[in-house]
Amino acid sequence: MWDRKKLREWDLKHFWHPYTQMRWYAKVKPPVFVRAKGNYLYDIDGKRYLDAVSSIWCNIWGHSNPKIVKGIIDEINKIQHTTTLGASNPNAILLSKKLSKLVGLPRIFLSEDGAEAIEVAIKMSFCYSKRAKNMKKVRFASVKYAYHGDTIGAMSVSGRTLFTQEYSELCFQAIQLPAVYCFRCKFNRSKEKGETKCSYECLEGAIRIIRKNRDILGAVFLEGGIQGAGGMIPYPPGYIKAIRDETKNLGILLVIDEVATGFGKTGKMFGHNWELGRSHKDKPDIVCLGKGLSGGYLPVAATLAQEEIYKVFLGELWEFKHFFHGHTFTGNPILAASAIENIELFEKNRFLFQRKLQPIIEHLGNKLKTLFDIDFVGDVRGRGLMWGIEIVRQGKESFPPQVLAGWRIALSMWKKGIFIRPLGDVLVVNLPLTIKKNEIDFLVEAMRESIVNSLRPVSRGTFSYK
Ligand SMILES: Cc1ncc(COP(=O)(O)O)c(C=O)c1O
Repeated sequence: MWDRKKLREWDLKHFWHPYTQMRWYAKVKPPVFVRAKGNYLYDIDGKRYLDAVSSIWCNIWGHSNPKIVKGIIDEINKIQHTTTLGASNPNAILLSKKLSKLVGLPRIFLSEDGAEAIEVAIKMSFCYSKRAKNMKKVRFASVKYAYHGDTIGAMSVSGRTLFTQEYSELCFQAIQLPAVYCFRCKFNRSKEKGETKCSYECLEGAIRIIRKNRDILGAVFLEGGIQGAGGMIPYPPGYIKAIRDETKNLGILLVIDEVATGFGKTGKMFGHNWELGRSHKDKPDIVCLGKGLSGGYLPVAATLAQEEIYKVFLGELWEFKHFFHGHTFTGNPILAASAIENIELFEKNRFLFQRKLQPIIEHLGNKLKTLFDIDFVGDVRGRGLMWGIEIVRQGKESFPPQVLAGWRIALSMWKKGIFIRPLGDVLVVNLPLTIKKNEIDFLVEAMRESIVNSLRPVSRGTFSYK
């Protein structure tokens, strides 16, 4: 058994946390989670938290699901790791077959994290465009505020935001399509409290840019219907379909990043399923998966591609046309086991997924929108189980960053037994498919109290920014 005091001490002394200001971390002493069951996490002091960010958006069936856990344990007792560089294992094969059927794309390249699935998509589409189209068609486009991951390539196709701007000299330049951020619409189409009078100028702008760059554009990257780390920003309805039609006509690849939106998080299996059918003309050319692919238990990711992309990598061994990419653990059988179990849970729970989930999603949206009556709530937006509540001083005016409005509310919610992590002043709610109505009610009430109680002193000027 570990000693609680020692663990806290070593955490601060040795463990450098991702996306964390360690000076702030030392002050706040966030929870150290030791176990998890269903929709709840338990910390080292025995306190229970509702996992309202699905452990960074990846948990699907709640924690400690016996089927996924058993699948992992059974496999680990048989084999732990063997390479898939020129060799194979049953689970990697079975997972590829299942994914191919589920998404409707035939060729599956496995990896470990969402960012790697994106790197693979970048490299695949780069080689394809060079080999099958022409040497100039090697540029990429993505939407402003997009987030596709933290590796250099993934950052390059992401927006220049707080997450990437410091690394901009390291990145290659992607072509930027206009923001789809309705609440702060550049074309002044947004009114207050969620109302918009959208005329799709952002989409028209995107299409204009794509057409202008048709000779150099190899691929367009889109998130699956809602931008995640950019601030939980849904695309206007019809956006993905319009970009698919345009890219198809111009012979440009469409890559859909379903890392955050896949596996039911938007209410359909994949976010693009809301707008794209399964016909060849509608299909994305490449789809990237991660996060929820394993149910959120282990790092598994995948890049799925059309046959015509795969074909440009075929040749004799000495021609060196094959895909030069692979990591040590690509296709690891234990990782693959977790993903197979997750997909089987979808197969088994088709009814729950298709029928029971929709009223839950509706309830969540309706409940969250009741927060609009708080002056500090500027916007409530989302899809399915993925929502963002944008906190403002008033109207569209943000609090100064020193106020840490998002974090003040999050810390208050932690005290009430709800674990969330904001994106700046956007409170993020990302729930597992197993969430219940009474848990949603508890979450929204705690959020309401936390917003009001944490921000009233600030707005009255009784809070010091230090
Ligand atoms: C849409 C999207 N793509 C890619 C990634 C990167 O995934 P990972 O953190 O597993 O590398 C994320 C992570 O949040 C994401 O939201």
